[in-house]
Amino acid sequence: MRALVMTAPGGSENSEVREVGTPRPGPGEVSVDVAYAGLNFVDVMARRGDAGYTVEWPHRPGLEIAGTVRELGAGVTGLAVGDRVAAVPTGRGLAEVAVARAELVVPVPDGVPLREAAAAPLGLATSLLLLTDAGRFTPGDTVLVHSAGGGIGSAVAQLVPLLGGGRLIGTVGRPEKAAGVQEGGYHLALPRDENLAAAVRAATDGRGVDLVLDPLGTTALALDLDVAAPGGRIVLFGNAGGGAVDALPPAGRLLSGNLTIGGFSHRGLVAAAPDRVAAATARILGFLADGRLTFPVNELASLAEVPAAHDLLAAGHATGKYVARVGA
Ligand SMILES: NC(=O)c1ccc[n+]([C@@H]2O[C@H](COP(=O)([O-])OP(=O)(O)OC[C@H]3O[C@@H](n4cnc5c(N)ncnc54)[C@H](OP(=O)(O)O)[C@@H]3O)[C@@H](O)[C@H]2O)c1
Repeated sequence: MRALVMTAPGGSENSEVREVGTPRPGPGEVSVDVAYAGLNFVDVMARRGDAGYTVEWPHRPGLEIAGTVRELGAGVTGLAVGDRVAAVPTGRGLAEVAVARAELVVPVPDGVPLREAAAAPLGLATSLLLLTDAGRFTPGDTVLVHSAGGGIGSAVAQLVPLLGGGRLIGTVGRPEKAAGVQEGGYHLALPRDENLAAAVRAATDGRGVDLVLDPLGTTALALDLDVAAPGGRIVLFGNAGGGAVDALPPAGRLLSGNLTIGGFSHRGLVAAAPDRVAAATARILGFLADGRLTFPVNELASLAEVPAAHDLLAAGHATGKYVARVGA
């Protein structure tokens, strides 16, 4: 079978599609004939060689897939060969066949295209869990989302109205992305420059925001604290730049501001609470099935197109969510 292989740290020059052995499921696992696989920034972090993201080279990326069940490992119940499923694989998802733990394999309802389903297990599930679990979103909240033009940012804009609605302010690294972010559902999109704090305060009549979703390590944390309203929650969920992160602010800053800083890790939940990832994936697939959620994705025609798309993500030029067509 064919799979994407990253041969060494770097860029697309070190990625290639290769023939590799077809994996078989172990006990409690399921193998899937992959129809579509989602691309995520974590693939880029692994490709760059960020600490903790690559166990060995060559590296086989890919952490969300949709397709049909190929084979059941010993002890797996409730699934059958041929079922349409979405899953978080045990890595190596950008391939024609991938293996996943059965508890992270979720049936795809009739009528939901596998193309959109491939964005559910990591990207859309993360966006939902950021809002509901980590962010404790309540209807009417004002939410500030950094890197609003990407896969997670675009999904948050689709999900907030489904959760009761709120006011959405997005930030972008490049001003030219702002118009697309507003077209994607944000009420306001702002460049991350020296005027950002003042612009957020002006946009909220000086009150500030109830929730900040921040994947920028700690580079924007001082701003987040500045613009959070009393009772505000700041959720740190990434380190796009890949550098060292700073210490958290003194407790007094949180006490005096009535603020909460929290963290979110999909990988952490996959390891320690996979039921929560599966439940979020199933909820997303339900939204897609009943038509409440429509989530446009950028389709790549084959695995061969993935390295160039990873380059776009790495350079901060990607817009929206990317999925690659892999099999039939
Ligand atoms: N904690 C978790 O479980 C979890 C799960 C999924 C994703 N994430 C994080 O969420 C973020 C969005 O993920 P995604 O898959 O949807 O990717 P994405 O948003 O499509 O692409 C990443 C975005 O990060 C921004 N960025 C900021 N600094 C950057 C840098 N030094 N190099 C490259 N890009 C930089 C860019 O947007 P701007 O320049 O417009 O800011 C870029 O478009 C990523 O940081 C990812 O690691 C975390």
